[in-house]
Amino acid sequence: MNPIFERQSIRKYLDEEVSSQHIIMLLRAAMQAPSACNQQAWEFIVIDNKEDKLAISKMHKFAKPAAEASKLIVVLGNLKKAKIKSMIEQDLGACCENILLQATYDGLGAVWLGFHPIEDRCKKIVEYLNIPDYCIPFAVICVGHPAVDGKIQVRFDESKIHYGRY
Ligand SMILES: Cc1cc2nc3c(=O)[nH]c(=O)nc-3n(C[C@H](O)[C@H](O)[C@H](O)COP(=O)(O)O)c2cc1C
Repeated sequence: MNPIFERQSIRKYLDEEVSSQHIIMLLRAAMQAPSACNQQAWEFIVIDNKEDKLAISKMHKFAKPAAEASKLIVVLGNLKKAKIKSMIEQDLGACCENILLQATYDGLGAVWLGFHPIEDRCKKIVEYLNIPDYCIPFAVICVGHPAVDGKIQVRFDESKIHYGRY
């Protein structure tokens, strides 16, 4: 199975816990991502408390899946640890994608909830989770056992490819 072509955002989950072994595997995948200068300036908060998941689900209008997910992984960028701060968003994007691909490979369902760089979203999560000011609250990944299995959209598009010059 090639998880790149099987992955899709899953926003509905069964009422079944995702084990901590599964979460560790997702975090292994996260930390295996490439990063500028190999800076690995990422950190994570794992959340499984119902009240916290509900609070996060209300932080913006596209965050609803957080309420029903078994666990949330908050992906942070620690600017104190970053050697090339201007590239940290790219590192964290790779990190989130690795989590999604590993979740697919493990038969879990996951969706990326965007926070950074939208200020009001970031302010809410920073305050709620006591995230220090030198950490970027980049994204929240919702993880659960999938309740739905949508159709995969094939997106390959020849017209987007340029050879040699634009
Ligand atoms: C930066 C980023 C932010 C996203 N934010 C949200 C979000 O807040 N809520 C949500 O339900 N999905 C979010 N998504 C998931 C996208 O909606 C989804 O990837 C897109 O519709 C394509 O569908 P697919 O993931 O099933 O291929 C986000 C994805 C990315 C990459």
